[in-house]
Amino acid sequence: MESKVKDKESLLRRLMESGGEPVSGQMLADEAGVSRTAVWKWVRELEEDGYTVRSIRKKGYVLEASPDRLSPALIRKYLNDDPFVSEIIHFESVGSTMPIAHREAQNGAPNGTVIVAEEQTEGRGRLARPWSSAAGKGIWMSVILKPDIPPHRAPQFTLITAVAICRAIRETADVEARIKWPNDLLVGGCKVTGILTELQADPDRVQAIIIGTGINVNQEPGDFPEELADIATSLRIESGQTVDRAALAASVLRNIGRYSSLYLEEGFAPIKALWEENSDTIGRKVNAVMMRETVTGTAIGITEEGVLEIRTDDGTVRGIYSADIVP
Ligand code: BTN
Repeated sequence: MESKVKDKESLLRRLMESGGEPVSGQMLADEAGVSRTAVWKWVRELEEDGYTVRSIRKKGYVLEASPDRLSPALIRKYLNDDPFVSEIIHFESVGSTMPIAHREAQNGAPNGTVIVAEEQTEGRGRLARPWSSAAGKGIWMSVILKPDIPPHRAPQFTLITAVAICRAIRETADVEARIKWPNDLLVGGCKVTGILTELQADPDRVQAIIIGTGINVNQEPGDFPEELADIATSLRIESGQTVDRAALAASVLRNIGRYSSLYLEEGFAPIKALWEENSDTIGRKVNAVMMRETVTGTAIGITEEGVLEIRTDDGTVRGIYSADIVP
């Protein structure tokens, strides 16, 4: 179904849908209920954003080239009518997408609302650590979920997201990422993605889960700050190719939708199986470093709550709720 034109973003979507055929300016103006000059102004704005729009006399507008941006229209084109995403809110530069998503969720944004930015100036990770989010290099995105579940099940959405991103990375960039418990994706032992899950909840019901995903996509080796140079990597470094960020963002969103539905319909068992299949942690000898102690042993699995189980050398099985896992 063709999208209805009402602003610059929906005009872009319509031009993308036309597949290179000119779209008449008069038709667009009639459809939007605005003048042809107003349509022309939207076209100018698109050009200012880096799009190349050709105007063919007596025929209309053709979109000739798109910049490398996470524009909602481009992500939607790749989403191809997938029903999960309800709204995509795009920013050029923000402090962090997390507080924006929290505010949107509180103000009634529905399940599947997405906040995405080209750049974050104060991106943050787990334990309030900074998250490097350079302009145009990655996918810095927060997704609002509103499942009807009790709060203790919310951490499972970190695991759902990890499985979803693993699949999206495989599909779009042809790179095999492995999951390091609880929320990192690694390629060749270096971090390519971090997931930050935050919650708005009543004592017995989740109001909203905010899933923040930071995916290092097109950085080159010199692009990472010095302190990350040895521990971070990007899909471009690993695959040797530039990756289409909008296509990857769409695939991540489609898979978050798919695995959330699977989870809500069939429970945690299928997610647990997929998570363990893609895990870099299970079967390894690890140290779980916590504030007051370090547990050493072999990671043997995760529980229904997403708790990591470690068998220590004396045979006891310890459940780890939150820790840094080091070899
Ligand atoms: C981690 O590994 O510690 C989690 C990193 C999460 C980073 C993402 S980027 C989008 C969203 N906005 C943020 O400020 N953080 C998350």
